[in-house]
Amino acid sequence: MADTVRVKNIGLRGVTVADTKISFIDGEQGILIYRGYRIEELAERSSFMETAYLLLDGALPDRQELDAFTARVVAARQVPEFILNNLKTWPASAHPMDVLQACVPLLGIADPELRVETRESNLNQAIRLIARIPVVVAAWHRVRNGLEPLPPDNTLTHAGNFLWQMSGVKPDPEMARDLDVCLVLHADHTFNASTFACREVVSTRAHMYAGVTAGIGALSGSLHGGANAEVIKMLMRLKSEPDVAGWVRQQLANNQKIMGMGHAVYKTMDPRARFLKEMAERLGKKLGREHWFQLSSAIETAALQEFEQRGKTTIKPNVDFYSAPVYHLMGITADLMTTIFAMSRIAGWCAHIIEEKFAEAQGKPALYRPEAEYVGEYCGLMGCAYEPLQARD
Ligand SMILES: CC(C)(COP(=O)(O)OP(=O)(O)OC[C@H]1O[C@@H](n2cnc3c(N)ncnc32)[C@H](O)[C@@H]1OP(=O)(O)O)[C@@H](O)C(=O)NCCC(=O)NCCS
Repeated sequence: MADTVRVKNIGLRGVTVADTKISFIDGEQGILIYRGYRIEELAERSSFMETAYLLLDGALPDRQELDAFTARVVAARQVPEFILNNLKTWPASAHPMDVLQACVPLLGIADPELRVETRESNLNQAIRLIARIPVVVAAWHRVRNGLEPLPPDNTLTHAGNFLWQMSGVKPDPEMARDLDVCLVLHADHTFNASTFACREVVSTRAHMYAGVTAGIGALSGSLHGGANAEVIKMLMRLKSEPDVAGWVRQQLANNQKIMGMGHAVYKTMDPRARFLKEMAERLGKKLGREHWFQLSSAIETAALQEFEQRGKTTIKPNVDFYSAPVYHLMGITADLMTTIFAMSRIAGWCAHIIEEKFAEAQGKPALYRPEAEYVGEYCGLMGCAYEPLQARD
């Protein structure tokens, strides 16, 4: 039996629970690596399709392998008709993350390999999930606005096709490339809450779709992927605020968080935030809407100053801080922002699910089963005396 390690109520910070070959973070130096490659290199030179292949396969593809992988994703974009029809009966007020979380099991029951537990069939399922999650998100956005879902445009990139299927407008190539870079940046992040949720679920030998459903639930929270939606709400609230620094000061004085700042692992600038900051500025300039970048930078400057004064010098902008203005400039509504995170992180989730199921980084699969200290009512090992209901009236 394994030794008992006592690390309670610290959200598993600093507790290593598994080995992984998929990604690596150096939180002190602000370094993120996927399968050996620095995130900066991938953001500048790779694409989401190539990065997804890298995460799932473990190595960069050659031209033929990349073309074949991309063709498989493109071919898998067709979401079963019963799901699209079903969406039309759902309340238009439903949050896109809830809709996405509800749709993943529906995609699962339509997957012919749902319970085929080979690596190959799990990879096929991963490809279908990567292909279909953006289609479901775009379809829901249209259906809730009283519009028909659009067929994919297979001449566009993964990101470009999402923008098209969401808006019905052929995207500006630079914007589509920027969204593709966002997808590269969000694709994996070691044992973050949602990835851990996916791995924990499939450690029970549940199928990939069950794991991904749990991951979407974990991602939706405002301390994780939901933070980007909170950031845009903050920007909307502050767009005509004359005293941004005063608002930040007050927020911290009230023990409230500045969303999009701070990180459980990074103790310096999140390496992904640098790209998103540059993108927010560039896109803003191009569209003549620089005020969102200016407002974000003003919040950042004020917050860093306040954190400094409070001795909290490790709290810096994270990936969600500048992704929010970037997505807003791309015409993505606040409540869709976390789904963009999901349509990227699905690549990492699936890679981790496969690694967990097939013990690709450890000797053999292991069911996660931590312990908790019981601090509740206790009457001894014989248990408390049970009083019948009538006697308790
Ligand atoms: C992500 C996050 C949960 C990581 O937190 P963590 O490293 O576990 O640290 P804690 O939440 O315990 O915070 C440590 C201290 O810094 C403060 N802090 C952390 N992030 C903060 C923020 N964004 N704004 C204000 N204070 C913050 C906490 O209030 C806490 O202060 P205390 O010690 O006086 O109680 C946290 O930074 C946060 O809530 N950020 C905002 C949400 C967000 O952007 N999430 C997306 C992450 S990618």
